[in-house]
Amino acid sequence: MAKNPINYSALKKNSPKIYKLIKKEEKRQKEGLEMIPSENYVSVEVLQALGSILTNKYSEGFPGRRYYGGNDVIDEIENYAIDLAKKLFKVPEALVQPYSGSPANLIVTMAVCKPGDVVMGLSLVSGGHLTHGANLSFSSIFYKAVNYSVGKDWKIDFDELEKLAVKNKPKLIWVGTTAYPFKLDYAKFRKIADKVGAVLVADCSHITGLIIAGEHESPVPYCDIVMTTTHKTLRGPRGAMILATDIGLKKDPELKTKLERALIPGAQGGPHNHQTAAIAVSLEEALKPSFRTYGKQIAKNAAVLAKELGTVSETHLVLLPLTDYGYGMGYQAQYALETAGITVNKNTIPGEPVSPFYPSGIRLGTPALTTRGMKKKEMIKIASWIKSALEEIRGHDTPKEKELRAQYIKDFKKKISGNKNLLSIKREIAQFSQKFPVPGID
Ligand SMILES: Cc1ncc(COP(=O)(O)O)c(C=O)c1O
Repeated sequence: MAKNPINYSALKKNSPKIYKLIKKEEKRQKEGLEMIPSENYVSVEVLQALGSILTNKYSEGFPGRRYYGGNDVIDEIENYAIDLAKKLFKVPEALVQPYSGSPANLIVTMAVCKPGDVVMGLSLVSGGHLTHGANLSFSSIFYKAVNYSVGKDWKIDFDELEKLAVKNKPKLIWVGTTAYPFKLDYAKFRKIADKVGAVLVADCSHITGLIIAGEHESPVPYCDIVMTTTHKTLRGPRGAMILATDIGLKKDPELKTKLERALIPGAQGGPHNHQTAAIAVSLEEALKPSFRTYGKQIAKNAAVLAKELGTVSETHLVLLPLTDYGYGMGYQAQYALETAGITVNKNTIPGEPVSPFYPSGIRLGTPALTTRGMKKKEMIKIASWIKSALEEIRGHDTPKEKELRAQYIKDFKKKISGNKNLLSIKREIAQFSQKFPVPGID
């Protein structure tokens, strides 16, 4: 991966406001520790493709079947991205045009279901994604959403899942997570989907990099369709891909056409060609042996981090309960860590005792830090900074009275922003980070 900075000279001269803000964000990304598990640092090559003139072109349709003229080059780019996706995931068909993960999940649902059909997915508080059947998402507004959940051990409760599936006869079952630190057993999902005649769709957005590295089983042999975002552990630009598997196409030979129609005219218009080219670049990178090493290191780092923080991770992320620190401490932890230069997100924990807005945990991950070259030694150091920063939230419990919470958090932020320990950690981290370059940043 090239490490050279991107040349912003024209922007600096003619759009100084945006130039300055990019430089400010570069500083944040470089001097802090980016630990949101769905984030990563893309290569300079990906950035260059993304910033190219390919954004100028309209290309509604698919290679060889476009609505507008002038698409010969775009066809070559999209076909190349499709071929790389098929090779990497060993699938017969791939769509690379989805703008991002949420529209991709809308496309998949529209291809498989009619409005009002039953869709099943892991509940939000159990670590599922909004688009798998959460309140206020298209997936519960236009479809009948049924959620399964995790048990007391925080792992997917297959007994409940099977009972719910038998009772509700879903058309589609999602297997995929956004805040779940354990491996997924795709075979068990397949068995239940077959029992009730449901289409099984994997949303492996979070763990795609681990799958490529052989650190997690692939959903391809078990699922009818696979959706993945391209910007998380896969380390590409923001975007998504929909893959149709052999078993999916065998059951429904029209599957590819249904997915294409759901994409356009169903849910999207012209593809983002600059994004397609950048996806192709990231797929080239993911096909190299060095990506396997990277994916394995992500998981090793997460396991060390989890152990140091007193929990476990089988993937790239750590879901840390903060109930030992007080009541509803996720917000306070996120803010204290941010003050110390560590970016994480507050998160509900299974059986969330407080509320999704004032949750009881945080979610952290290692994909971005691993891209910077950090390993076990650095994880141990980072865990010690996290533990030290979290000591500062003790005694700042979320009020039990709901009406007092917003003001309480406002006051907490003010109080903690000048905290000496947190600011001292921030300085140490800024120093430490210098040794670990970020692609594209000086
Ligand atoms: C499992 C899963 N699916 C889908 C998405 C949606 O992706 P996007 O944010 O690109 O719409 C996410 C994003 O967090 C996710 O974690």
